[in-house]
Order: sequence, then structure tokens, then C-alpha cells
Amino acid sequence: MKSLISPKSLILMLIAILNTNLYAQLPKETPEQKTERMKWWTDARFGMFIHWGSYAQAARHEWVKKYERITNEQYQKYFDLFNPDMFNPSEWAKMSKEAGMKYAVITTKHHEGFCMFDSKYTDYKVTNTPYSKDIIKEWVEAFRAEGLKVGFYYSLIDWHHPDYTIDRNHPQSAKTSDEYAILNKGRDMNKYRKYLKNQISELLTNYGKIDIIWLDYSFPSGEHGKGHDDWDSENLLKMVRELQPGIIVNDRLDLKDKEGGWDFTTPEQYKVSKWPEINGKRIPWETCQTFSGSWGYYRDEATWKSEKQLLGLLIESVSKGGNLLLNVGPTARGNFDFRAQDRLEDMGKWMKFNSRSVYGCTQAPDKFPKPDNCLLTYNPESNRLYVHLLDYPMGRLTLKGFGGKVRYAQFLHDASEIKFGKPRYNVTYQESLKDKDIILMLPVVKPDTEIPVIELFLSNE
Ligand code: GLC
Repeated sequence: MKSLISPKSLILMLIAILNTNLYAQLPKETPEQKTERMKWWTDARFGMFIHWGSYAQAARHEWVKKYERITNEQYQKYFDLFNPDMFNPSEWAKMSKEAGMKYAVITTKHHEGFCMFDSKYTDYKVTNTPYSKDIIKEWVEAFRAEGLKVGFYYSLIDWHHPDYTIDRNHPQSAKTSDEYAILNKGRDMNKYRKYLKNQISELLTNYGKIDIIWLDYSFPSGEHGKGHDDWDSENLLKMVRELQPGIIVNDRLDLKDKEGGWDFTTPEQYKVSKWPEINGKRIPWETCQTFSGSWGYYRDEATWKSEKQLLGLLIESVSKGGNLLLNVGPTARGNFDFRAQDRLEDMGKWMKFNSRSVYGCTQAPDKFPKPDNCLLTYNPESNRLYVHLLDYPMGRLTLKGFGGKVRYAQFLHDASEIKFGKPRYNVTYQESLKDKDIILMLPVVKPDTEIPVIELFLSNE
């Protein structure tokens, strides 16, 4: 009897089944489960990014190798001399905690390829430098001891590995396809993919529970770029999820279209205009930002953001439902630059009194329109709304449309009552005030906090 299914379609069916099975290994979860898994992170709102590697010695950007087209041989001096004698991760952890940060993400390897951890798959690692100890191990222990969650940044890009093919971002990038072909002769991305997998597996096996992994980055568009096929992203991610089931993963593996291919999006060095969405649905997000214009330590760079700008970045992120990951680039001796220390301290002073408007908060419901020069955040659990006064008003603040919605108002930093009422039309001319508006009566002198916050206890409607 003739079989109903031809051998060819049988093979195709088998492949399809195999694919679905492989695909099914990217863990499925409901939106509620994802929200629950990420809850500590969305509540935390504020974390520290740390870009540290041998580029700290060049002290002129972590991309110095590419920008100056430095060869491996010329770059070797940074490896031979690497010895951050003042590195004290407990001090870092304390500074980060006192600034109000709840988690931290450190570069275990940046694009230069230098590993800050003791990997058995390379010699190009910190334990072979004069410093000789596993920095990542010391760091993880110190940060955990302060109660901070820990995350690993790992560069998918590698400018040192002999099998990593030269692409347009590489220090030895070329002009023509022919040149690329010559340069890449003998380089084998299969071997590099294996290396990636092995190293990420080490990082997620040898250091206990890791809360976040930050893989950086894909550039698939245009010529001589790299994307998910180059990294074997899907299988890499499956491994990550298997090794650390609760881990939170960023979105730079070039798996944006895959369900479960990422957990949050990562707008870098700019403010989003509104809560980012995909297909009309709001998605988790975290903006990463520098204190000044570089991620790695850059001695001569001077565009440092002010305390007010930095607090503005944090509050504005929360007001749009997002997180802020603020970067420090430690020096090659292992210290935070004094300017970074100053700003962390300043932010910590503000956070000490005002963090209630940050932790566990999110975008305010639409029924509360934002007053001019203010940012609103909202805590859905306590049903309190926070008005951040970016430009301190003159005696009064009108909250349009808030009539009947507020039970009590106070400054957050000192819990002092703020009296409020309805507009009184008979006293003097009031511009466009309606019964549904309220006026807060503020002291003339701005309270002694960079951005004063008003806490509104909302009525339970
Ligand atoms: C970019 C840069 C890199 C930095 C990262 C932080 O991808 O290549 O230097 O580590 O952004 O988001």
C-alpha cells in the first residue's frame, strides 16, 4: 500500500515538530507571571551601571581601541599593567546604596574582550594581570552583602578574540567587502559562538544567583553588522533561562520579535517622550545614562550633568513607568571619580527624604493632568500621588481637575501639611479656575531640597 505521506513531507513535519519543541524551550509565561518575576526590578526603579575594564587606563572612552584603531599588540600594555590597587568593592556598594540604588550591573567583559572574571576559556583575563584576583567575584560578594541585587553586563562584541570576524564596529574595520574577506580568512564564528556560550555559562554558574543579564549588543542592519544568527541568540537565551530561571534580560540579542526573547527595552542616553509601547502595549523599560559623556573613565571629558538634571532623569523615568540605570566609570586605580562621588552623595541626600515618590511608583493615572513644570509619580499600592516641583512656584500651585480627589497634602521631605482649597472667585481675579480645580498654599521660601515633592493622599472613589 502506498504511504499517504511522502518521505519529503515527513522530514518537513519532523523539522517543524523539532523547531516547535526547541522554541517551546524559551520559557512561556503569562503577562502576569512576567510582571511578578520582574516586580523587584520595577519597584526598585534606580540602579547603578559600572563600566570598568582595561580601557580605564587609556582614560579616553571605552571605545578607544576602535576610535584610534589600536591593534591587539599596541593595546597589550593595558593588560600588562592592569592593577587597580585601591579597588574596594564594599566602598562602591555603600556609595551605591546610599545614593538610593537598589541594584547594580557591572561589565564582566566589554567590547575590548578583556575579562574581569576568571574564565577557563581565555588567558585574556584579570587573573593573569598584575592584579591577579577575580574582580567579579569580589564585586558580587560586596554588593550582595549590602543587599543590592547584582547584574552582569557581557559584551557580545569582542575585539580581541581571534575567531570574532571583523565587522564595521571592529577596530580593524575595512572599506570593501574584498578587504573584509581577506581580513576574515581563518576566523571562525562557530568557535566564537561556542566561546560566548561557555563564558556566559561560567558567569551564570560560578557566582551564585544573578539577578540581571545585560548582553550588548546587536547591529544587524546595513553591511558587515551582526545579529541573532551571529550570536545564536535564541539558544544562548535558552541556556541563560535554564541556568538562572528568575533572571531579568535586556533586549539587545536581536530577538525583539520573539516571544520571551527579552524582558525590558533599553533607551540609551536619551529621555523617552512617553512610556514605550509595542503593538499598543506598554513595555518594561530602563534608560541607561552616564554622569558625563562616556561610560568608561574619561579623564578629560567635562560634560558632567548637574544634580538637578540627574534627579530629573530619575523622576521623569518613573513618571513614565521606567527605571534609571546610572553609570559610573571607575578609574584604573579602582576609585569612583570625585565628581561621580559628589553626585551620588547629592542624589542620596534627596533620596533619603524623597524616595517614597520613586520606589514602587509609576506613571500617574490619566485623570491627574500634570501641572506646568512638574512631574507626577504614583504609588498604586498606597494610592498616593507625588507632585515634583521642578521650578518652585510662587506661593500657590493650581492642580487642575484634582477637585474632590485629594484628602490630604503634605511635603514629603518633612511631612508638613500643605493647606489647600477651592478657588475663591470673590477675592480677586483667578485665571480659568473651575470648581474642579484645587489650589495648594505653598510657603514662599523653597524648602531645602533640590526638587521638593508634595505627597497627595487620594480619596478612595
Ligand atoms: C553601547 C556602547 C557601550 C556601552 C553601552 C551601554 O552599546 O557600545 O560602550 O557599554 O552602550 O548601554
